[in-house]
Amino acid sequence: MIGVHMKETTLTEEINKRRTFAIISHPDAGKTTITEQMLLLSKVIREAGSVKGRKTGKYATSDWMEIEKQRGISVTSSVMQFDYEGKRINILDTPGHEDFSEDTYRTLMAVDSAVMVIDSAKGIEPQTRKLFKICKMRGIPIFTFINKLDRDGREPMDLLSEIEDTLNIETCPMNWPIGMGKGLKGLYDIYNNRVALYNRSGDKKETYIQLNDSGDIEDDSDLKKDSIWKDTLDEVELIKSAGNKLEIDKIMTGDLTPVFFGSALANFGVEDFLETYLKYAPTPADHRTDDNQIVRSNDDRMSGFVFKIQANMNANHRDRIAFVRLCSGEFRRGMDVTLNRTQRRLRLNNSTQFMAEDRESVQTAVSGDIIGLYDTGNFQIGDTIYEGKDKLQFEKLPQFTPEIFVQVTAKNVMKQKSFHKGIEQLVQEGAIQLFRSYSSNDYILGVVGQLQLEVFQFRMKNEYNSDVIMTSLGTKIARWVDPEQLDESAASSRNMLVKDRNDQPLFLFENRFAENWFAQKYPDVKLTSRL
Ligand code: G4P
Repeated sequence: MIGVHMKETTLTEEINKRRTFAIISHPDAGKTTITEQMLLLSKVIREAGSVKGRKTGKYATSDWMEIEKQRGISVTSSVMQFDYEGKRINILDTPGHEDFSEDTYRTLMAVDSAVMVIDSAKGIEPQTRKLFKICKMRGIPIFTFINKLDRDGREPMDLLSEIEDTLNIETCPMNWPIGMGKGLKGLYDIYNNRVALYNRSGDKKETYIQLNDSGDIEDDSDLKKDSIWKDTLDEVELIKSAGNKLEIDKIMTGDLTPVFFGSALANFGVEDFLETYLKYAPTPADHRTDDNQIVRSNDDRMSGFVFKIQANMNANHRDRIAFVRLCSGEFRRGMDVTLNRTQRRLRLNNSTQFMAEDRESVQTAVSGDIIGLYDTGNFQIGDTIYEGKDKLQFEKLPQFTPEIFVQVTAKNVMKQKSFHKGIEQLVQEGAIQLFRSYSSNDYILGVVGQLQLEVFQFRMKNEYNSDVIMTSLGTKIARWVDPEQLDESAASSRNMLVKDRNDQPLFLFENRFAENWFAQKYPDVKLTSRL
């Protein structure tokens, strides 16, 4: 493949096979379990428990390396790629609460759609809401899987209303539970006009009953005699007559989410979900440049942007991995590209490789795929790389409103130089956001997840030889104000006044109460948040 371009038709065909998405959920809703079921369905892994083993540490890393080698999948990395029914699927990980960071948000900049997994007993939880907001802002399609139907959960109607009301998106149920928990009998598959019977025996193969034209089953069926069937029919009738219709255009703009019920653990409803999902999920999107041009996903010229940089936490390995979303063309090993920001030419050769170099399935990477580039400090978040001569810069990645703040100083006052250099570089890389106190000019760092601060501290010491002291300021609500409207005397201990790296003023409110109090006292001052 080296040096040889794919034919245009082959390239378009390859790109059209790609489905690149993230699973957004609150920890424990079942993201790992559903991912595992998808890997089982695609025969990438053979045994349930494999992926969960990774999470709970049941398997040693070496076992994982072995599994990765054998099955050709990089399970320990942030991107899982596998083939299913002629499609190539890239699932991008959005880490749970302990590792939640701006990277998690930025990962959503690199996907074409999202799968939202909700625990049927808990409904919408805080992390789902946060991640959903970013997907909604991007206007990407969102598919919902309401999980854990084998347990008693909330009423399905109630869950749909909660999604609609709190997330402001229309729902369209694709199937409907026939009972729940111990009383779960199956799923009424509205979309395929059939019933999938729930099989408790452990035999995971779904048994289907085709429904007649009026959506009912034959009289001699056991299910028909069960009172739950009548209730289900009534509810389905209501949905069909009063619910939202499946409108593809609305799905594509993120205004309507198809909703599937099921149980990831029992592998019930997952296959039907995946199949319908793959049918409707979008192929790789076109991308906009900073001068408002459109780069088509099937342009032959290779281009992509860095959406995440993962630092190696091992002090012996200073290298990092820059994750690049390919936006057009085809990546070939050994190719030359230009890094737009520096205009430096880079050869993507030995120092560059796929997530798992030796896996068979990945011979080519095209638009929609994610590649991992070993980085010795060349890349920053938001960087564009491209093939050919014409300059190209994709739209800036958005900045996210930080929530956790610390004041930071160098432990050793003699080492100010390395302290400043470290901070400057880590800010540029997008690892943290930097603010300065308005009155004292102190350094204040803002992050969306605690882990970012730990990584910051570690990297300052290891990469810049600078020990830092961080004093927690706690969680804050950051709100920007128009400099013209700024009244410095409005600042207090409950609403600290700081400026961002572009010298724009903002208040850090102690809590919602302090923000409301301020809004009432200064009704003309407009407060704005980022995403
Ligand atoms: P996460 O990645 O979103 O954090 O969730 P994960 O898949 O790890 O699932 C969290 C817990 O919920 C796990 O239980 C998992 O077995 C359970 N779970 C996931 N899907 C279902 C489902 O459809 N039904 C039921 N009943 N449970 C489900 P755990 O006890 O924390 O872990 P484990 O001991 O089972 O490994």
